[in-house]
Amino acid sequence: MSTSSRGSYTAVLPVAGLGTRFLPATKATPKEMLPVVDKPAIQYVVEEAVASGIDDVLFVTGRSKNALENHFDYAPALEGVLAARGDTRSLDELAKIVDMAHIHYVRQGQPLGLGHAVSVASKHVGRKPFVVMLGDDLIDASTPILQTMIATHEKLGGSVLCLMEVDPTEIHLYGCAQIESTDTDGIVRVTGVVEKPTAEEAPSNYAIIGRYLLQPEIFDVLATQEPGRSGEIQLTDAIETLINSNAGGGVHAVIFTGKRYDTGDKMSYLQSVISIALEREDLGPALRTWITKKLANDI
Ligand code: G1P
Repeated sequence: MSTSSRGSYTAVLPVAGLGTRFLPATKATPKEMLPVVDKPAIQYVVEEAVASGIDDVLFVTGRSKNALENHFDYAPALEGVLAARGDTRSLDELAKIVDMAHIHYVRQGQPLGLGHAVSVASKHVGRKPFVVMLGDDLIDASTPILQTMIATHEKLGGSVLCLMEVDPTEIHLYGCAQIESTDTDGIVRVTGVVEKPTAEEAPSNYAIIGRYLLQPEIFDVLATQEPGRSGEIQLTDAIETLINSNAGGGVHAVIFTGKRYDTGDKMSYLQSVISIALEREDLGPALRTWITKKLANDI
């Protein structure tokens, strides 16, 4: 990697979920492996980590995630065939996936919730700040939000969340933050968080999206965290404790205003495929022409 001061954060990617929102596609295929154009969704997330200077990735996995592990590993039989064909372009593409980061795995065991998934990363991470990236959240690469979060942590200390303003009718789908402004545009102090509140309970329209920079004190909180909403050990509840105790130096957030897709949701997934394909030089122009004709009922 060309980055000198980079690589000091571990990115923890919880991927043990069953993907029930996307059945039947996810019956035998991990939801993280659903293709967005020609790459599995999870590869975009790892690439985002790498683009922010992170080269240590810990997947928190569960049963039936072999395809994901195989994707980030060498594939000797396939590579042999490509080499015999002289297909260096594909070989390079495959090598990049394996070489882009140090990838590690730990099993979650029981599916006790996002907070529990993060807690099993504790041994690997140690007593250092670290990043959590949720695989369902696909964030447009032109907004390097993780870099802004890292810079915010390095300036202000403490933990850093990523918030996005959503319609009040959607806030019940997210963790929600109560915030105060700071001297810096786009950076707020978080004074409280609540997991999936009703529109009436919600302290704001700011939703927590799937990027977190957390202080290791979160592990101490998670070790005794009681189950919360849906009977699961919620990361949001542990963050609320961090805020109240000021452990690890308080919580700030950056406000995300770019494009984000929830690849676990069918409509948002379709939007991600179309948007990313439209932006691609090799596919975009022809796809645009086709969509235009299709919408005009020409084909
Ligand atoms: C999780 C978190 C939630 C957050 C969301 C972002 O919920 O618990 O606080 O807002 O991710 O995608 P999930 O979508 O896993 O239900």
